[in-house]
Amino acid sequence: MNENKTNINWYPGHMAKTKRLILEKIDLIDVVYEVIDARIPYSSKIIDIEQYIKNKPRILILNKMDLCDPKETEKWIHYYEEKGYIVLGMDLMHSTNIKPLLDATAKCLEQESMKRSQKGLKMRKARVLVVGIPNVGKSTLINRLVGKKAVVVGNKPGVTKNLDWIRINDTLELLDSPGILWPKFENETVSFNLASLTAIKEEVLPLEEVVIYILHTLERYYPQILQERYGIDHLEEDIVETLDWIGKRRGCLIRGGEVDYEKVYTVILNDIKEGHIKGITFDRMEDIHES
Ligand code: G4P
Repeated sequence: MNENKTNINWYPGHMAKTKRLILEKIDLIDVVYEVIDARIPYSSKIIDIEQYIKNKPRILILNKMDLCDPKETEKWIHYYEEKGYIVLGMDLMHSTNIKPLLDATAKCLEQESMKRSQKGLKMRKARVLVVGIPNVGKSTLINRLVGKKAVVVGNKPGVTKNLDWIRINDTLELLDSPGILWPKFENETVSFNLASLTAIKEEVLPLEEVVIYILHTLERYYPQILQERYGIDHLEEDIVETLDWIGKRRGCLIRGGEVDYEKVYTVILNDIKEGHIKGITFDRMEDIHES
């Protein structure tokens, strides 16, 4: 594997802009929803998030629970709870039940609400910002929260400076666009996990290496998936033989019957992207502690 490539700190221009925007908005925000991917609850988390959101109350949402390995992900939920986070596992794709999130939000704001009522102040709507790396489900969450009865509150001159707020209910308003942040490619495992399970791929690592990593990780933790999906019970020492097998089985051939490796990579990546491969959590507590 190419060591240099995994250590790059890819920092596209738009990140600087997002950072500035979040910093501008954060004082108006009461609660932050930080969305991460339940299959990579470590790699998809933004390490230096405090830089952006200061000490605002925050709810950590492990999304895509339908695709994760619940036993492993449960350990991560516990890990973050131990660190003092309010943690929620969600499947925003299939479930429309946002009540647990609304309840958690109300709990986050309990103290603030109490202070206001003791001072005889009227309750105001809590303002929420959604943040996370690309592809974790931020927009899906916003759509779930907004539902059908969305009302764009619009700009409030002098208060929100060109920001649109969407009314969620009597107690909550949502900033209409999420804060898209970029992960840190802290080490090789994190880089490969991000490349394997998110939309962040060829910008970071060659597809071939990502696919080989996926196959090795499946062999190590989920051999039954290799068997069920690709009909193999182990990877060959020469990985090309395994790719050939999968290619032939899945019809990734070019004229003359040769295997088209680019197609094999796409098939495997799509198996993950489209959720044909589920029940996987690639971040493992033991790896993190080793690194
Ligand atoms: P983002 O704003 O953070 O970039 O993520 P977005 O909501 O666009 O979600 C990224 C992809 O993940 C979308 O699929 C979305 O449907 C899917 N997704 C979101 N939440 C869940 C979940 O809980 N479970 C599963 N299985 N998938 C989820 P897509 O194929 O990129 O787009 P689309 O074809 O669904 O629109």
